[in-house]
This record gives sequence, structure tokens and C-alpha cells, in this order.
Amino acid sequence: MDEKLHVLDHPLIQHKLSIMRDKETSVKEFRELASEVAMLMCYEATRDLPVEKVDVETPIGLAKVNKIAGKKMAVVPILRAGLGMVDGIIELVPSVKVGHIGLYRDPQTLEPVKYYCKMPKDIAERDVLITDPMLATGGSATAAISFIKEYGCRSIKLMCILAAPEGVKRIRADHPDVDIYVAAIDEKLNDHGYIVPGLGDAGDRIFGTK
Ligand code: PRP
Ligand code: URA
Repeated sequence: MDEKLHVLDHPLIQHKLSIMRDKETSVKEFRELASEVAMLMCYEATRDLPVEKVDVETPIGLAKVNKIAGKKMAVVPILRAGLGMVDGIIELVPSVKVGHIGLYRDPQTLEPVKYYCKMPKDIAERDVLITDPMLATGGSATAAISFIKEYGCRSIKLMCILAAPEGVKRIRADHPDVDIYVAAIDEKLNDHGYIVPGLGDAGDRIFGTK
């Protein structure tokens, strides 16, 4: 069993994912669902945030309560499609800082090509949550993780809505320290590197570019 691989089988996540997979789902609905699924996944992915005991005066008396222990988070979407998951996370964690990594997959080689990068100054001190709806060959995600590690980040989680077994294997081999959160692991990749049965091209479905 892989303790760093988390398949989030909550019924709400699974239900929303089933609608995202449907080819008849509109761009508007797909976009909303990507954000909602990201929010629900973020709820699970932040389950291990450390808390500290503090005192709070209620109208009736003193309560000893848990508060998040000052840990700072950053979310780093892999452009473009990872952007579709950011709003849902910001709703849950309003103080989160956002870095961006622009990568696209060369359609011939399937290798990731970097075209943009901007990180918060103190990224090395933050818990980083990388978002991308699709973990296919794993090339983009592994490149993004390596890149973020170059900044000195040590606490990195990867959150993808759908994964192929090939992508999970690649991240496990390249970055055994990184926790992976997915809503489902599908059967395989096709000859064009698309997840089968998957949900199609996530970027195109979020931004309506096809
Ligand atoms: C998609 C997806 C991932 C990548 C996954 O992005 O959003 O970033 O492919 O494939 P991999 O695991 O084989 O690297 P794409 O390159 O289509 O760019 P986009 O987000 O701009 O649509
Ligand atoms: N990128 C996507 O958007 N979809 C896939 O199935 C694979 C890579």
C-alpha cells in the first residue's frame, strides 16, 4: 500500500467528477465543477495541517480550541488547466499565496515545455500544493515538482483530479517524498497520451478553446 497516494472517494467528489467526464457537460458547468472538486479535494489534502490549542472567550466562558498553527500555504497551478482549480482552494484558504508555472505538453514528444514562472518570494517556507486536473504521463507534474524543489521547497503535495497509472508511477519514482491526491485513477493512456476513459482535454474544457 502506498501511504502517499490518496484516492479521494468521497461521494460528492465522485458525483461531480462523473458530470465532468460527460462529453455533453457545458464549459460553464465543467469550469464550476473543476473548482468545486478542487475545493473538496483541498479539504482532504489539508487534513494534516498542524493545529495549536488557544483560549477563546465565548459569551459564556473560556474555551480551549484548536487553531491552525500558523503554517503558510501556497498553491501553484500548472498553466493552463491547473488554474481551473485555484478559486475553489482560495475559497477554503483565503490567505493562500499563488505561484504560477506555465508548461505545455509538446503534442509530438509529450515532453513538457516551460514558458512562464512566477512564485511568491517566501515560497521555500510554505507548504506547496501543486494543482493540475490531469496527471497523464506525469511529465508535466514531475517537471513542476523538480522546479519548485529548486526554490528550496520541502513540503510539496500534488493534487490532480484524474490520473493514469503511468503518471502515478512516474511521480512515485521521481518524487517519492510528494503526497499525491487524486479523485480517480483511470485505466490507461491512449497513443496520444490522453487518459482513457478520462474526461478529454481539461484545458480546452475549462477555457472553451475547442
Ligand atoms: C495537460 C494537463 C497537464 C498535462 C498532463 O496540459 O493539464 O498539464 O497535459 O500531461 P502529462 O502528465 O503527460 O504531462 P496541456 O499540455 O494540454 O496544456 P493546457 O493546460 O494549456 O491545456
Ligand atoms: N491532458 C489532458 O487535458 N487530458 C488528458 O487526458 C491528458 C493530458
